[in-house]
Amino acid sequence: MAHEKNDILALHGVYKNYEQGGVLVPVLKGVDGTFHQGCSYAITGVSGSGKSTLLHVLGGLDVPSSGSVTFNAKNFDQFRTSHKNSFLNLHIGFVFQFHYLIRELTVRENVMMPGLIKGESRRACRTRAEQLLKLIGLSERADFYPPQLSGGEQQRVAIARALFNKPSFLLADEPTGNLDAENAQMVVDLFCAGQKEWNMGIVICTHDSAVYGRMETVYRLYEGTLVARKD
Ligand SMILES: Nc1ncnc2c1ncn2[C@@H]1O[C@H](COP(=O)(O)OP(=O)(O)O)[C@@H](O)[C@H]1O
Ligand SMILES: [Mg+2]
Repeated sequence: MAHEKNDILALHGVYKNYEQGGVLVPVLKGVDGTFHQGCSYAITGVSGSGKSTLLHVLGGLDVPSSGSVTFNAKNFDQFRTSHKNSFLNLHIGFVFQFHYLIRELTVRENVMMPGLIKGESRRACRTRAEQLLKLIGLSERADFYPPQLSGGEQQRVAIARALFNKPSFLLADEPTGNLDAENAQMVVDLFCAGQKEWNMGIVICTHDSAVYGRMETVYRLYEGTLVARKD
Protein backbone atom coordinates (compact mmCIF):
# COMPACT_ATOMS: atom_id res chain seq x y z
CA MET A 1 0.00 0.00 0.00
CA ALA A 2 1.17 3.51 -0.83
CA HIS A 3 2.50 5.64 1.99
CA GLU A 4 -0.47 7.42 3.54
CA LYS A 5 0.03 11.08 4.32
CA ASN A 6 -1.79 12.49 7.26
CA ASP A 7 -2.07 16.20 6.70
CA ILE A 8 -3.66 18.28 9.43
CA LEU A 9 -5.66 21.45 8.97
CA ALA A 10 -6.33 23.40 12.16
CA LEU A 11 -7.93 26.53 13.55
CA HIS A 12 -6.36 28.11 16.62
CA GLY A 13 -8.41 30.64 18.58
CA VAL A 14 -9.96 32.03 15.42
CA TYR A 15 -12.00 35.22 15.70
CA LYS A 16 -13.71 36.78 12.73
CA ASN A 17 -15.56 40.08 12.79
CA TYR A 18 -17.26 41.86 9.95
CA GLU A 19 -17.76 45.56 9.87
CA GLN A 20 -21.22 46.62 8.80
CA GLY A 21 -22.00 50.34 8.61
CA GLY A 22 -19.36 51.18 11.21
CA VAL A 23 -20.58 48.44 13.57
CA LEU A 24 -18.41 45.45 14.36
CA VAL A 25 -20.27 42.16 13.95
CA PRO A 26 -18.49 39.28 15.71
CA VAL A 27 -19.14 35.96 13.95
CA LEU A 28 -16.40 33.55 15.08
CA LYS A 29 -15.44 33.94 18.73
CA GLY A 30 -12.40 31.82 19.39
CA VAL A 31 -12.85 28.69 17.29
CA ASP A 32 -10.45 25.80 17.85
CA GLY A 33 -10.63 22.76 15.62
CA THR A 34 -8.34 20.09 14.22
CA PHE A 35 -9.17 18.30 11.00
CA HIS A 36 -7.25 15.21 9.96
CA GLN A 37 -6.78 13.94 6.44
CA GLY A 38 -8.72 10.72 5.93
CA CYS A 39 -11.45 11.70 8.40
CA SER A 40 -14.88 13.21 7.77
CA TYR A 41 -16.45 16.12 9.64
CA ALA A 42 -19.75 17.93 9.44
CA ILE A 43 -20.37 21.44 10.72
CA THR A 44 -24.00 22.18 11.41
CA GLY A 45 -25.61 25.30 12.85
CA VAL A 46 -28.51 27.61 12.15
CA SER A 47 -28.43 29.99 9.23
CA GLY A 48 -26.24 32.99 10.05
CA SER A 49 -24.23 31.12 12.70
CA GLY A 50 -21.02 31.55 10.67
CA LYS A 51 -20.59 28.21 8.87
CA SER A 52 -19.59 29.76 5.55
CA THR A 53 -17.29 32.19 7.32
CA LEU A 54 -15.57 29.34 9.16
CA LEU A 55 -15.13 27.26 6.01
CA HIS A 56 -13.73 30.19 4.03
CA VAL A 57 -11.19 30.88 6.77
CA LEU A 58 -10.30 27.18 7.03
CA GLY A 59 -9.78 27.00 3.26
CA GLY A 60 -7.67 30.15 3.06
CA LEU A 61 -10.29 32.05 1.06
CA ASP A 62 -10.62 34.59 3.85
CA VAL A 63 -8.37 35.59 6.77
CA PRO A 64 -9.22 35.56 10.47
CA SER A 65 -9.46 38.85 12.41
CA SER A 66 -7.23 37.16 14.98
CA GLY A 67 -6.00 33.66 15.70
CA SER A 68 -4.46 31.44 13.06
CA VAL A 69 -5.01 28.66 10.54
CA THR A 70 -2.33 26.05 10.00
CA PHE A 71 -1.61 23.24 7.56
CA ASN A 72 0.76 20.71 9.14
CA ALA A 73 1.60 23.33 11.77
CA LYS A 74 2.60 25.88 9.13
CA ASN A 75 0.72 29.13 9.49
CA PHE A 76 -1.25 30.26 6.41
CA ASP A 77 0.06 33.79 7.08
CA GLN A 78 3.53 32.64 6.15
CA PHE A 79 2.58 31.96 2.53
CA ARG A 80 3.03 34.67 -0.04
CA THR A 81 -0.19 35.21 -2.01
CA SER A 82 0.98 33.47 -5.19
CA HIS A 83 2.39 30.56 -3.22
CA LYS A 84 -0.79 30.35 -1.15
CA ASN A 85 -2.99 30.14 -4.23
CA SER A 86 -1.00 27.33 -5.79
CA PHE A 87 -0.85 25.58 -2.42
CA LEU A 88 -4.64 25.75 -2.09
CA ASN A 89 -5.13 24.54 -5.65
CA LEU A 90 -3.02 21.48 -4.84
CA HIS A 91 -4.18 20.57 -1.35
CA ILE A 92 -7.71 21.86 -0.86
CA GLY A 93 -10.77 21.28 -3.01
CA PHE A 94 -13.63 23.70 -2.40
CA VAL A 95 -17.29 23.13 -3.26
CA PHE A 96 -19.70 26.02 -2.85
CA GLN A 97 -23.45 25.95 -2.39
CA PHE A 98 -23.79 27.42 -5.87
CA HIS A 99 -21.42 25.57 -8.11
CA TYR A 100 -19.63 28.55 -9.79
CA LEU A 101 -18.83 26.70 -12.98
CA ILE A 102 -17.46 28.80 -15.83
CA ARG A 103 -20.35 29.15 -18.27
CA GLU A 104 -18.15 29.77 -21.30
CA LEU A 105 -16.21 26.53 -20.86
CA THR A 106 -17.48 23.04 -21.52
CA VAL A 107 -18.07 20.57 -18.72
CA ARG A 108 -14.80 18.80 -19.59
CA GLU A 109 -12.83 22.08 -19.60
CA ASN A 110 -14.30 23.12 -16.25
CA VAL A 111 -13.18 19.85 -14.70
CA MET A 112 -9.68 20.15 -16.26
CA MET A 113 -9.10 23.65 -14.86
CA PRO A 114 -7.25 22.78 -11.58
CA GLY A 115 -4.82 20.57 -13.55
CA LEU A 116 -4.17 23.27 -16.17
CA ILE A 117 -3.53 25.80 -13.38
CA LYS A 118 -1.07 23.34 -11.87
CA GLY A 119 0.74 23.22 -15.22
CA GLU A 120 -0.11 19.70 -16.38
CA SER A 121 -0.43 18.97 -20.09
CA ARG A 122 -3.85 19.37 -21.71
CA ARG A 123 -3.72 15.74 -22.73
CA ALA A 124 -3.14 14.49 -19.17
CA CYS A 125 -5.86 16.82 -17.86
CA ARG A 126 -8.28 15.63 -20.48
CA THR A 127 -7.71 11.99 -19.57
CA ARG A 128 -8.21 12.64 -15.86
CA ALA A 129 -11.30 14.79 -16.53
CA GLU A 130 -12.80 11.96 -18.52
CA GLN A 131 -12.17 9.50 -15.68
CA LEU A 132 -13.90 11.86 -13.26
CA LEU A 133 -16.83 12.47 -15.61
CA LYS A 134 -17.29 8.73 -15.81
CA LEU A 135 -17.25 8.50 -12.01
CA ILE A 136 -19.99 11.13 -11.71
CA GLY A 137 -22.00 9.54 -14.53
CA LEU A 138 -21.70 12.49 -16.93
CA SER A 139 -19.42 11.20 -19.69
CA GLU A 140 -22.17 11.94 -22.18
CA ARG A 141 -22.24 15.61 -21.13
CA ALA A 142 -18.51 16.38 -21.55
CA ASP A 143 -19.04 18.79 -24.45
CA PHE A 144 -22.08 20.51 -22.97
CA TYR A 145 -21.93 23.94 -21.36
CA PRO A 146 -23.01 24.32 -17.69
CA PRO A 147 -26.33 26.11 -18.44
CA GLN A 148 -27.36 23.05 -20.47
CA LEU A 149 -27.24 20.82 -17.36
CA SER A 150 -29.65 20.36 -14.46
CA GLY A 151 -28.75 21.79 -11.03
CA GLY A 152 -27.74 18.37 -9.71
CA GLU A 153 -25.57 17.70 -12.74
CA GLN A 154 -23.86 21.07 -12.41
CA GLN A 155 -23.10 20.42 -8.76
CA ARG A 156 -21.60 17.03 -9.65
CA VAL A 157 -19.35 18.74 -12.22
CA ALA A 158 -18.22 21.26 -9.58
CA ILE A 159 -17.36 18.33 -7.32
CA ALA A 160 -15.39 16.58 -10.07
CA ARG A 161 -13.45 19.84 -10.48
CA ALA A 162 -12.78 20.04 -6.73
CA LEU A 163 -11.53 16.43 -6.72
CA PHE A 164 -9.31 16.85 -9.80
CA ASN A 165 -5.98 17.25 -7.96
CA LYS A 166 -6.85 14.58 -5.37
CA PRO A 167 -6.78 17.18 -2.59
CA SER A 168 -5.83 16.32 0.98
CA PHE A 169 -9.05 18.05 2.04
CA LEU A 170 -12.38 18.69 0.46
CA LEU A 171 -14.26 21.62 2.02
CA ALA A 172 -17.90 21.83 1.00
CA ASP A 173 -20.34 24.59 1.89
CA GLU A 174 -23.92 23.27 1.85
CA PRO A 175 -23.20 21.43 -1.39
CA THR A 176 -26.55 19.64 -1.34
CA GLY A 177 -28.65 22.67 -0.40
CA ASN A 178 -30.27 22.86 -3.81
CA LEU A 179 -30.47 19.16 -4.57
CA ASP A 180 -33.11 16.47 -4.16
CA ALA A 181 -32.42 13.59 -1.76
CA GLU A 182 -31.14 11.26 -4.46
CA ASN A 183 -28.64 13.76 -5.87
CA ALA A 184 -27.60 14.70 -2.32
CA GLN A 185 -26.71 11.09 -1.57
CA MET A 186 -24.76 10.85 -4.82
CA VAL A 187 -22.75 13.92 -3.80
CA VAL A 188 -21.89 12.39 -0.42
CA ASP A 189 -21.00 9.11 -2.16
CA LEU A 190 -18.50 11.02 -4.33
CA PHE A 191 -16.88 12.62 -1.28
CA CYS A 192 -16.66 9.26 0.48
CA ALA A 193 -15.10 7.71 -2.65
CA GLY A 194 -12.29 10.31 -2.40
CA GLN A 195 -11.87 9.54 1.30
CA LYS A 196 -11.48 5.86 0.50
CA GLU A 197 -9.41 6.18 -2.66
CA TRP A 198 -6.76 8.71 -1.58
CA ASN A 199 -7.43 9.25 2.11
CA MET A 200 -9.06 12.61 1.56
CA GLY A 201 -10.36 14.55 4.56
CA ILE A 202 -13.90 15.94 4.32
CA VAL A 203 -15.26 19.05 6.07
CA ILE A 204 -18.84 19.75 5.09
CA CYS A 205 -21.21 22.48 6.29
CA THR A 206 -24.76 21.26 6.10
CA HIS A 207 -28.24 21.48 7.60
CA ASP A 208 -29.17 18.14 6.12
CA SER A 209 -29.28 15.25 8.60
CA ALA A 210 -29.04 12.75 5.71
CA VAL A 211 -25.66 14.32 4.93
CA TYR A 212 -24.20 14.96 8.39
CA GLY A 213 -25.44 11.53 9.47
CA ARG A 214 -22.82 10.02 7.17
CA MET A 215 -19.87 12.01 8.58
CA GLU A 216 -17.73 10.50 11.36
CA THR A 217 -17.62 13.62 13.54
CA VAL A 218 -20.44 16.16 13.76
CA TYR A 219 -19.95 19.65 15.20
CA ARG A 220 -22.33 22.49 15.72
CA LEU A 221 -21.35 26.12 15.37
CA TYR A 222 -23.02 27.78 18.31
CA GLU A 223 -22.52 31.32 19.55
CA GLY A 224 -19.29 31.62 17.61
CA THR A 225 -17.55 28.42 18.72
CA LEU A 226 -17.51 24.78 17.66
CA VAL A 227 -19.23 22.33 19.98
CA ALA A 228 -19.86 18.59 19.66
CA ARG A 229 -23.34 17.90 18.40
CA LYS A 230 -25.30 15.60 20.65
CA ASP A 231 -28.23 14.02 18.81
N1 LIG B 1 -19.01 40.02 4.01
C1 LIG B 1 -19.77 40.19 5.09
N2 LIG B 1 -19.96 41.44 5.62
C2 LIG B 1 -20.72 41.61 6.71
N3 LIG B 1 -21.32 40.61 7.38
C3 LIG B 1 -21.19 39.37 6.90
C4 LIG B 1 -20.41 39.09 5.73
N4 LIG B 1 -20.45 37.76 5.50
C5 LIG B 1 -21.21 37.22 6.48
N5 LIG B 1 -21.66 38.20 7.32
C6 LIG B 1 -22.50 37.98 8.50
O1 LIG B 1 -21.90 37.00 9.31
C7 LIG B 1 -22.85 36.11 9.87
C8 LIG B 1 -22.52 34.67 9.51
O2 LIG B 1 -22.66 34.49 8.12
P1 LIG B 1 -22.34 33.11 7.41
O3 LIG B 1 -20.95 32.72 7.73
O4 LIG B 1 -22.69 33.27 5.96
O5 LIG B 1 -23.36 32.11 8.16
P2 LIG B 1 -23.97 30.70 7.70
O6 LIG B 1 -23.14 30.19 6.59
O7 LIG B 1 -23.94 29.86 8.93
O8 LIG B 1 -25.39 30.98 7.28
C9 LIG B 1 -24.21 36.58 9.34
O9 LIG B 1 -24.82 37.35 10.35
C10 LIG B 1 -23.86 37.42 8.14
O10 LIG B 1 -24.79 38.45 7.96
MG1 LIG C 1 -23.56 29.63 4.65
